[in-house]
Amino acid sequence: MTTMTECIAKTEQIEERDARSFDTSIGEVIITQRDGLFYAYKNSCPHLNISLEFQEQQFMDLDHEYLICANHGALFETETGRCVAGPCLGKSLVHVPIQVHSDGGIYLVA
Ligand code: FES
Repeated sequence: MTTMTECIAKTEQIEERDARSFDTSIGEVIITQRDGLFYAYKNSCPHLNISLEFQEQQFMDLDHEYLICANHGALFETETGRCVAGPCLGKSLVHVPIQVHSDGGIYLVA
């Protein structure tokens, strides 16, 4: 059984094919939306375990196809967090389990 613990964002804060980060009790979490579904990952690149972005709230590549690490250009699939190009090829962002509630809130689940 899953339990919703903490509301970390509202769905309207994350545009389709975009991403943004939120401070939570488990650290900074990136949430992205693809085809109406939401996916969340810790803001930590598996290459050097540092934040992905240089510019505030810039987590997508130019085509808004992949999450990108601005440090060395690693690309990550939005739906899986898997690195498909760059120095951490084959590794993954740390997935954060979330649940979208009917109130429009995105909650951490435990
Ligand atoms: S720190 Fe992310 S690609 Fe190097």
